[in-house]
Amino acid sequence: MADRSTICAIEIGNAKTCAAIAVHEPRGGYTVIDGWGQSETEGLQQGSVTDMRAVEASLSEALATAEQMSGTTVRNALVSLSGSHLTTLSSRARIPASRNEPVGEALMEQVLRKARQIKVRPDQQIVQALPGSWMIDDEYQVREPEGMHAGYLGVEARLVTGSSAAISNQLACLAALDVQVENLVPSALASARAVLTREEMDMGVVLVDIGAGTTDFAVYARGRFQVAGALNLGGNDLTRELAHSLHCPSRVAEQLKITHGSAMELPSSLAGEVTAEVFGDQRHISVSTRHLCQVLHQRVGQLWDRLDRHLVKAECRRLIPAGLVLTGGGSLLPRIADSCRARFRLPVRTGTVPPSIPVRDLAAEVRSPEFATISGLLLWGLEAHRPAQPAEGQARPEPARGWIRSLRTVVAGFLPG
Ligand SMILES: Nc1ncnc2c1ncn2[C@@H]1O[C@H](COP(=O)(O)OP(=O)(O)OP(=O)(O)O)[C@@H](O)[C@H]1O
Ligand SMILES: [Mg+2]
Repeated sequence: MADRSTICAIEIGNAKTCAAIAVHEPRGGYTVIDGWGQSETEGLQQGSVTDMRAVEASLSEALATAEQMSGTTVRNALVSLSGSHLTTLSSRARIPASRNEPVGEALMEQVLRKARQIKVRPDQQIVQALPGSWMIDDEYQVREPEGMHAGYLGVEARLVTGSSAAISNQLACLAALDVQVENLVPSALASARAVLTREEMDMGVVLVDIGAGTTDFAVYARGRFQVAGALNLGGNDLTRELAHSLHCPSRVAEQLKITHGSAMELPSSLAGEVTAEVFGDQRHISVSTRHLCQVLHQRVGQLWDRLDRHLVKAECRRLIPAGLVLTGGGSLLPRIADSCRARFRLPVRTGTVPPSIPVRDLAAEVRSPEFATISGLLLWGLEAHRPAQPAEGQARPEPARGWIRSLRTVVAGFLPG
């Protein structure tokens, strides 16, 4: 896009593909979503492309709708990335600082760039490099070193890596539609940008985006990103489990899950019977809602167990006193927050998108937890494109400075090769 104040975000999820175009209006000092397109994703499984033509078709449909609505042609986009191939590594680097000048953005970028210079497995590549903590003179941690004096500036960087093949295949689908990727953002980081509060990030929190095929998570502590990862388990697995248990088609199980499901077991006083279409001669059977919720409860329990194991392994379990924030379509399952709270014994909330992106002529549903990833991508992009000095009267969004810096660092180097 020639117009730097127009930003496009694309999420190719396992269930849905979304394209959103946002316009930053400097005079009004606010941002509106100007174009929106959504299609059902075909050809993707647990974050990896299984059929390029099918993904391209889903993408083309969503993009064409958004372009038509906004009257623009998308050439560049921020794109989310998910899947269990994503992992996080730590890397330290330090650089001597000038004795006479305080630490500036250039030095911070330089030290982060140095931290990226580590060997990753040949089939992996670095997707994002973000500062986990800054150190001055190897002695004390600082939250924001800009403007401070230092002998040496050090960083403990968090590098999110992903499978080069999975990333290249996704980029190829976008390239087939003439879309250049200006930044790849792990979907949990994008969702976190949309829904987490500064206080939660300071205290320590994990964002859990329960999508269709994967559950992506990102841990924040001391105000900064720490670890991201993903499990190959999502809302579709709940549907599959129900379909197997009831011997019914997936579309029937999906409908039953959405209309009668719960992540907690139903007391018999609330249970009832519903009719479901099944395979075989019988065609329709009566299903107890108690049984239905029991199946979902068990599967959701397995999801929490696996998430917990990941958090323990990443040494993050003790870092999250502010608890868990749930996003993604899977977070819409009734009582899933209760089930999570009971399992982790921590505060839990469902993350809806706050009104930081005014939406023009669009349904309020865009603020649903299902769309946290795409909203976060837009915010990420808008902050990076925002002029260095905000126009008079225009608030700079929190936490703009750190995000802008990490974005700039990353844009330079995430592409394969
Ligand atoms: N009301 C609801 N109750 C329970 N589950 C729901 C509800 N609405 C949507 N879902 C589930 O949410 C999932 C889709 O979530 P989402 O749109 O976040 O996926 P996605 O972003 O396309 O996938 P992924 O993040 O895995 O790439 C589906 O499994 C769907 O069944
Ligand atoms: Mg998703």
